[in-house]
Amino acid sequence: MTDFTKTRAAFHIPDGVVYLDGNSLGPLPVAAGERLARMLTREWGDQLIRGWNTAGWYVQPRKVGDRVARLIGAAPGTVVMGDTLSIKVYQALSAALEFVPERRIVLSDSGNFPSDLYIAQGLLASLGRGYELKVVKPEEVEGAIDERVAVTLLTEVDYRTGRLHDMKRLTAKAHAAGVVTVWDLAHSAGALAVNVTDADADFAVGCTYKYLNGGPGAPAFIYVAPRHADRARPSLSGWMGHDAPFAFDLDYRPAPGIERMRVGTPPVIALTVLDVALDIWENVALSDVRAQSILLSERFIAGVEAACPGLELGSPRDPAARGSQVSFRHPHAYAVMQALIAKGVIGDFRAPDSVRFGFTPLYLGEADIDNAVAVLAEVLDKRLWDTPDYHHKAAVT
Ligand SMILES: Cc1ncc(COP(=O)(O)O)c(C=O)c1O
Repeated sequence: MTDFTKTRAAFHIPDGVVYLDGNSLGPLPVAAGERLARMLTREWGDQLIRGWNTAGWYVQPRKVGDRVARLIGAAPGTVVMGDTLSIKVYQALSAALEFVPERRIVLSDSGNFPSDLYIAQGLLASLGRGYELKVVKPEEVEGAIDERVAVTLLTEVDYRTGRLHDMKRLTAKAHAAGVVTVWDLAHSAGALAVNVTDADADFAVGCTYKYLNGGPGAPAFIYVAPRHADRARPSLSGWMGHDAPFAFDLDYRPAPGIERMRVGTPPVIALTVLDVALDIWENVALSDVRAQSILLSERFIAGVEAACPGLELGSPRDPAARGSQVSFRHPHAYAVMQALIAKGVIGDFRAPDSVRFGFTPLYLGEADIDNAVAVLAEVLDKRLWDTPDYHHKAAVT
């Protein structure tokens, strides 16, 4: 049984804050400062360039990848870290398309995160072979999978509504039609008991700054199913994915297995922080996290619906059909969120009209939920959101 009191103590949560935005950016692990300071002085400072070997920087993307692998149901040696999620989407999609060269459709849905769609648009345009990105409604994905589709590019949990795709069922349907699957787990890793092996996913990608608490700009991960790992062609054929980077050959030759999905120099400092954040998961069962996240989100929905009649639930009502976040709609959602944040309840706004709240049992309990509901009710009852300052949108919403 996971001890959530212990995990809560592992994070720095500012006094007076109820943090309901761990689905965008997880909080700082308390141990990160010291570990990072040690890395900077003892590794970078003292070991200088030798650190690539002596401090294990070179193998870090694989070692940290193995830790992430455990959290997404992947075998050791099938996940590697690096770059941003957008880059990993590009790599996975381009490799997947080459498995089905005769097909021309990439299937996605309107609940996908825009960067995934933008990356697909850019890649397909540069391939220039008449590819089509077909974007259907999330509930129409299953019916749109057929023999014309090359690849499905889907995000398991909808960033805006929290709607959860059935990864296993859709993957099985895709495989029956000869379609290759790319799953984006940005809102799943660390939130759900994801199991890419059981779901038989071909490729999976995700970020580590949300539920995995790796910090702003933390590196992304890519999983390639073992059956594909030695034949997936890396489109971003950088030197760190070469079979022998330090032979400095003039021609690219991919490394065996998942290593070929490395591109360039890894973000060692960011990986160090992520590694500390992953320590917290050592004694955590994802099944406990999921059960507790459902409990907290159900409590939140019931509380909000009882106390805030002006809000409309924008997420699936069935917890089994949701990830670990809940959205409510309000015509002045942006201003409502600003007023909430000013009172220490931090969630976020998602265009056009959603206030969104993430439930992260590692550091949230029932008292936090009740507190957040009470503040939300006050903001709405007293129209605290209705001031000019709260209507002015910042660059990052
Ligand atoms: C589902 C999903 N995919 C892709 C991205 C883009 O990630 P990055 O900015 O790390 O490239 C995000 C960012 O939040 C996301 O939520």
